Amino acid sequence: MRILAFLNQKGGVAKTTSVRNIAEFLKSQHKKILLIDLDPQSNLTASFGENKRTLQETIYQLFKLQVERVDYDIHKFIVNIQGIDIIRNNLKFSKADLEFGNAMSREVILKKILRNLLPSDYDYILLDCPPALNLITYNALVACDKVYIPLEAESFSLEGVADMLDTVEEIRSDLNGSLSIGGVFITRFKIQTNLHKTIIASLKEYFPTELMNTYVRENITVGEANAMKKSILEYSPNSNGAIDYRNLGREIIQREGI
Ligand SMILES: Nc1ncnc2c1ncn2[C@@H]1O[C@H](COP(=O)(O)OP(=O)(O)OP(=O)(O)O)[C@@H](O)[C@H]1O
Ligand SMILES: [Mg+2]
Repeated sequence: MRILAFLNQKGGVAKTTSVRNIAEFLKSQHKKILLIDLDPQSNLTASFGENKRTLQETIYQLFKLQVERVDYDIHKFIVNIQGIDIIRNNLKFSKADLEFGNAMSREVILKKILRNLLPSDYDYILLDCPPALNLITYNALVACDKVYIPLEAESFSLEGVADMLDTVEEIRSDLNGSLSIGGVFITRFKIQTNLHKTIIASLKEYFPTELMNTYVRENITVGEANAMKKSILEYSPNSNGAIDYRNLGREIIQREGI
């Protein structure tokens, strides 16, 4: 079982879109996968057409039960939608920092929740993180094996990436010694301008082994698929978006070896 966190504290860089579409690719490869929506905005939950307002069995509830040390059955919180297992979320989780901020081992709550699963239950667990470096993100970093970082070349800021890497390093040294960066990948890639070339050259320098070969291109069909609550692989299997996400998924399988 490999737990991968999709992280970038910058908003709108395609974390959720990537989790959704990589999941669909992994499903097509007969991998056993679980998605966990860790973002109170709950866009991943909504991307499956779920009405987040009416949800009871959420990751928020699991955090609450875990912190209160109440017995629970994690399987009651996992639903299968369109052939993919997911633990959903809703806006209540936006209080997480306040509500769980004083709990004992507050960064280890998710890790404890996931101990209720057997290693053989899943090949991959994908965590969709919120666009913040907060308690929820720390929980993801403590619980995961690898971090995958989507970057939008256009809005790429070295400072933002440095903040993220500092956080990863801090968690590695204090709470999760085996944490590492699984890969960095470019999303919403537009035509190669000179600016892009410069940015990508500096990314290659910064991430010599981590930068992945697949650049996910800007493709209007990806946004359409999101709006239709479908993965790009189902919505338009021959589109550039589908091609790119299949390639990215293949690279992840190669890197993880599972
Ligand atoms: N390859 C792409 N081509 C075109 N549009 C894209 C592409 N990837 C993502 N988008 C669009 O970009 C927007 C942001 O994507 P997404 O919600 O996945 O980002 P995010 O990093 O999860 O955002 P947040 O930080 O708010 O959680 C969405 O409207 C999505 O449809
Ligand atoms: Mg998101």
